[in-house]
Amino acid sequence: MNIGDFRKTQHDINEIFLNRWSPRAMSGEEIAEAELFSLLEAARWAPSSNNNQPWRFVYARRNTPFWSTFFNLLAEGNQVWAKNAAALIVVISKTTFDSGKPARTHSYDAGAAWGSFALQGSLMNLVVHGMQGFDYDKAKEVLFIPADYTVEAMIAVGRQGRKEELPAHLQEREFPSTRKAVSAIALEGLFRQ
Ligand SMILES: Cc1cc2nc3c(=O)[nH]c(=O)nc-3n(C[C@H](O)[C@H](O)[C@H](O)COP(=O)(O)O)c2cc1C
Repeated sequence: MNIGDFRKTQHDINEIFLNRWSPRAMSGEEIAEAELFSLLEAARWAPSSNNNQPWRFVYARRNTPFWSTFFNLLAEGNQVWAKNAAALIVVISKTTFDSGKPARTHSYDAGAAWGSFALQGSLMNLVVHGMQGFDYDKAKEVLFIPADYTVEAMIAVGRQGRKEELPAHLQEREFPSTRKAVSAIALEGLFRQ
């Protein structure tokens, strides 16, 4: 696949940003724990307010006793394809500083860490796919997440698989998406619709 057939830039950027996308087709193979740790290492070096590092990644690898707990959190629409992932991760963030004061940017910081995680995965030719479609309350309960942490999102990681093995409705969507224009997201001086 030639990414340039799907995505056009308006300004010069490094190709890593265009090459990262969120496939759903995964092979069902395992990945080594060391590979997953490379993604977590990239996330570790994200910037955060006061270097608070509020992100936490609770994970389960396939063929381990933890897998079914994580898989059962997913909405059916995500289970259909995420069943072939090698790891499922619940991203959480700590809502307070160690002093106990509220950490206003905990979600923003965790988002930055997820971005690095995803880019590192893309550089390693792994599928990394963020998910909102899961039961947030149940995740908090079954993973014993303390009250001062909030559940942000889940991630599926795996080896790329064959598009033809996805259900037809997902095959149709299995290509890199495009984006709003820079002029629609960047506003000089004042906010305008
Ligand atoms: C926080 C977050 C939640 C997402 N939730 C889902 C989801 O539940 N199911 C799904 O199939 N894709 C999900 N996605 C994937 C997005 O739809 C995808 O990232 C977006 O369309 C941009 O496409 P790209 O990642 O291929 O560039 C999610 C992505 C993010 C970052």
